[in-house]
Amino acid sequence: MSGVQLEVLFTPGDIDSAVARLAREIRKDYRSKNPVLLGVLKGCFVFMADLVRALDIPLEIEFMSLSSYGQGRIESSGKIQVIQGLRRSVRGRHVVVVEDIVDTGITGDFVLRYLRRRRPASVRVCALFDKGARRRVDVPIDYLGLSVPDRFVVGYGLDYDERFRYLSGLYCLKEDG
Ligand code: IMP
Repeated sequence: MSGVQLEVLFTPGDIDSAVARLAREIRKDYRSKNPVLLGVLKGCFVFMADLVRALDIPLEIEFMSLSSYGQGRIESSGKIQVIQGLRRSVRGRHVVVVEDIVDTGITGDFVLRYLRRRRPASVRVCALFDKGARRRVDVPIDYLGLSVPDRFVVGYGLDYDERFRYLSGLYCLKEDG
């Protein structure tokens, strides 16, 4: 890769508004349920941090680490590996899966199956970004932030080969050369 250019897709303000709206929706449904917010690393870390502060209700957070994209690649292998699974039981708990972006849906589907085997009281999915055009496996998104076009995006926690996660907006990646 000799260089990349970034094109703005969503400004930090666009993302803040979407996160605030998602927090209102989730707060209404979970205010007295002490939910477990389960983040799928690494991409969700920025979203999770903003979401839990906007939620401002009693909750617990957990993280899982899965691999679906190889280093430097922008195509999913379609194979999921659990790098770090759940460390605590979610049996009988209300779980909200927090995903940065649902792309092919393979990761989300994997997490839902993984969770259901552990008998939570309920499971819903909150995704900040949805790249619906690329879906290969259906994932029911209960709380959806923003739809994105069929482009590779970076920023707000999302990376290209570990780059650009720190950006506050969301950008389309354009490779040149
Ligand atoms: P899926 O399994 O194809 O739905 O992909 C899920 C994961 O792939 C996300 O949690 C992201 O970490 C990563 N991913 C998918 N699309 C993009 C993208 O456009 N930019 C950066 N990461 C992405």
